Amino acid sequence: MSDITVDLDLRSYKIIVESGALKSFPNYLKHHDNIKNLVLISHDSIMKHHGINLKNNLESLGYKIVEIILPDGDDSKDLEIYNRIITMMIESSCDKTSVVIALGGGVVGDISGFVASSFMRGIKYYQVPTTLLAMVDSSIGGKTGLNFSRKKNIIGSIYQPVSVIVDPNLLDTLPFNEKISGFGEIIKYGAIKDRGFVNKLNEWVKDIENFPYTKAIERCCQIKAEIVTKDENEINLRRVLNFGHTIGHALESYFGFQELRHGEAVSYGMLCSAWISFKKGFIDIKDYNLLIETINHLPLPKLNKVDPDEIMHYINFDKKNENGKLNFILLDGLGKAKVSQNVSSLEILESLKVLNEY
Ligand code: GLY
Repeated sequence: MSDITVDLDLRSYKIIVESGALKSFPNYLKHHDNIKNLVLISHDSIMKHHGINLKNNLESLGYKIVEIILPDGDDSKDLEIYNRIITMMIESSCDKTSVVIALGGGVVGDISGFVASSFMRGIKYYQVPTTLLAMVDSSIGGKTGLNFSRKKNIIGSIYQPVSVIVDPNLLDTLPFNEKISGFGEIIKYGAIKDRGFVNKLNEWVKDIENFPYTKAIERCCQIKAEIVTKDENEINLRRVLNFGHTIGHALESYFGFQELRHGEAVSYGMLCSAWISFKKGFIDIKDYNLLIETINHLPLPKLNKVDPDEIMHYINFDKKNENGKLNFILLDGLGKAKVSQNVSSLEILESLKVLNEY
């Protein structure tokens, strides 16, 4: 077992990474007095695989559970669902002592966190991620949010959980392509912060069936905790977590979220961003090849040819949201990243050619 601290003064918390952690979840609740009820937010399939045992376990200890099942997909992060959750919580007499448990992937984590941050001006919540991507990224750091008016995460807050409980055993029921999506974010952590970790990943992804998930998750959580500790509100450093994301987000929008999962799009985005970093002389050929080779080992979905102008359209849309300046994340050597406002449209267009090699 490892516990990793996100050090934020009074809002500090632990990330627990432990096989079987879900079974011991009630132990963590012992730190709270007089919990009125637990609001368990999840998806149907996750409830069947994991949630039902958790619910039974908690009920047998006398906790009252308010179970809220969200529909699948990113669409469930909207005001209508928010409305439904808050209504159910009011009808179930939730109050300041109620505690939210987010049992799921990024969507469940984001909406549950936002519910917790806004219900009666803020109640406690736990992140219990069930996807690889959520275990290494979205469950940590307190980003919460909803989509509104076709804009992703346009409503939201930074509100830290009481704790993040990661049980790698839950990955046993995760579909393979969801795991691959998580690998994109895992490689990202090595690229931006730890060259030695990329070396290890390069070996590990060659035998993906025997991938040491717990070790990899622990290292990613340590890196994320370190970055969030230094820059909780994403003023500067936290932005490096968006390596591969500018082009990745554009690819997600271009292909549609059903066709390309977030982490898969980030993997492709990293190929392009690494290429720009290399062309600008920020990483040498050896490190560039090491990173590219590691990503190439992932069984990513084949991409149809992209229309560069349309990709640029999506990127320029992002730019509008950043005061007209694109903050592009580049590598500064492998294992180090920096924010650059000097990446031209031409460089981005050139980098997209890398994708046609797939
Ligand atoms: N997923 C990026 C962040 O938490 O900042």
